[in-house]
Amino acid sequence: VNGFRRVLLVGFMGSGKSSVGRRVARSLGWHFRDFDEAVEEADGRSVPVIFAESGEDFFRAAEARVAEGLLARDGVVLASGGGWAAVPGRLSTLPPGTCSVWLKVSAELAVERAGRRPGRRPLLAVEDPLSVARALLDARSPLYALCDFEVDTEGLSVDDVSSRVLKLLGRSPATHTAANT
Ligand code: S3P
Repeated sequence: VNGFRRVLLVGFMGSGKSSVGRRVARSLGWHFRDFDEAVEEADGRSVPVIFAESGEDFFRAAEARVAEGLLARDGVVLASGGGWAAVPGRLSTLPPGTCSVWLKVSAELAVERAGRRPGRRPLLAVEDPLSVARALLDARSPLYALCDFEVDTEGLSVDDVSSRVLKLLGRSPATHTAANT
């Protein structure tokens, strides 16, 4: 896989990071780890409960700690949380050997997918989730765009997106492939 030792999937809530990550890891024979799950295991509470009881800042600190540990591993596919990569500096200081891929999704589809698992996304548990999603996505997109590669997920199945990610791993990040390739 072109010198890469780990894959980091980045993108908004509902972009498919976890489903695609599992599939890609299986194809590569690598381990899969999800930042949210790792936070939940370390803390003993679910993400929505951490937000409700301890607040977002507490969650972000826990997320930063687990991310650092997971990014030190080799032979892993990692699904980051939608907010983790949206902090300036995160994607520009990834350890060598990391292939970062932005899974792109529209605010509309993100909200639709999040609605299929209600209560899991505290940031979208508001009266007008679409407005919140649009504002967050606008603010975050320039940071997500720092990934080595991007794949548009709109209208694609988990299998399709996974195949595209696997194909990218054979390429040099310097070429910065466009969406849909
Ligand atoms: C968040 C995304 C969530 C989770 C938390 C906050 C965000 O992860 O970390 O609810 O700020 O976008 P997913 O992207 O896996 O839904």
